[in-house]
Amino acid sequence: MIEADFQIVHAGQLVCIGTERNEPGPRRRGELSSLAIIPDGALAARDGKIVWVGPTDQAGSNVTLTADAIDSNAGGRVVTPGLIDAHTHPVFAAPRHLEFEMRAAGKSYQEIAAAGGGIRTSVAAMRANGLGDLIAKGRRVADRMLALGTTTAEAKSGYGLSLEAEIKLLEAIREVNALHTIDWVPTALAAHDFPAEYQGRHEEYVTLIVEEILPAIADRRLAEFNDIFFDTGVFDRAQTERIQTRARSLGFGLKFHVDELSDVDGAALAAEMGAVSADHLVFISQKGIAALADSPTVAVMLPGTAYFLDLPRRPPVRQMIEAGVAVAVATDCNPGSNMTESMPLAMNQACVLYKMSPAEVLVGGTLNAAWALGRAQSIGSLAIGKQCDLVVWDARDYREIAYHYGVDLAVTVIKNGKVGK
Ligand code: NIG
Ligand code: FE
Repeated sequence: MIEADFQIVHAGQLVCIGTERNEPGPRRRGELSSLAIIPDGALAARDGKIVWVGPTDQAGSNVTLTADAIDSNAGGRVVTPGLIDAHTHPVFAAPRHLEFEMRAAGKSYQEIAAAGGGIRTSVAAMRANGLGDLIAKGRRVADRMLALGTTTAEAKSGYGLSLEAEIKLLEAIREVNALHTIDWVPTALAAHDFPAEYQGRHEEYVTLIVEEILPAIADRRLAEFNDIFFDTGVFDRAQTERIQTRARSLGFGLKFHVDELSDVDGAALAAEMGAVSADHLVFISQKGIAALADSPTVAVMLPGTAYFLDLPRRPPVRQMIEAGVAVAVATDCNPGSNMTESMPLAMNQACVLYKMSPAEVLVGGTLNAAWALGRAQSIGSLAIGKQCDLVVWDARDYREIAYHYGVDLAVTVIKNGKVGK
């Protein structure tokens, strides 16, 4: 008998995604829709780790519960792994609803940024905000994420754009992570934009990142990954290579915002530099598709941003999947280009706008998202040995999670074997 301190029985569909903990790499092509579903399934955990998975009618003969165990019944509902949001900017000082209003009146994201709004608005607010207040704001974002079924999220800096303010923002992320049930995986994004005071001196800002900001973040162990906005009007190829080469030598994993607003041939560079993910990719080229298909770099699709900014183009996601690109789905949660914490909404948008299937978006929001964070050995599927992170949905079929949108279907959220919602 296996001893457990957590058990859930009678999941109408226990959507394991995969039952093997060590899959060789991120899911591609047909593997993207392979879900490993146990009808009337059950799962048991001990000390936050999954110890048994199987049909409910076999739970009694395999699992024995400790005296203080959580013994729960899904009542026929769908159970999936906790959702993983592999791309977010969750700590910001103020919302940007005025820009939302301007876009509704016909202005584009780039026009608003060129007029001094956009990321720079968030930077000014961030610099003026105290650490305690940022932590309080970040916790509210984390609350909403967890309530909507996200048990792990990546968390980027990028609204400080100075040594002091980037450190403050990453400290806020670290504190939220320490105080909250959710796991936040920190990513440095000092290369999100050029701060206003470096107008006409962009190379000097690149030097500041390379010589001061990245080493200071590495010394304090404040981030696992380094990200950069490589696109027209932001960081160019040479600057991107300089910053990411330095980041890699300091031990950061690499992430890229690329080909979001134009085709800068960024996907191929991300693959070439061994990035763990290349994100956005609305304008990805044929060369970029081939490079990603041939690499372990995960393509993180952010359909909510394409929707929220009403971008004029959709990435060729079906072609990417057929070519063998490993695809994940995330929110891009941020006050400028997609103001939502909802992974189920991102999954809905990936189905509607990018024509992914409900199964593909579920793998994209769990196991492939775990690969995009370098954590596929511990989260992303309901396999023995992984963290007991799961969601009970008010649904009888997993397809309903992406299909029934604009409402909250997450009934119960379990994080590390404990009730988070
Ligand atoms: O992912 N592309 C760059 N950064 C964000 C937007 C951030 C903002 O506007 O505040 C994005 O879309
Ligand atoms: Fe982003």
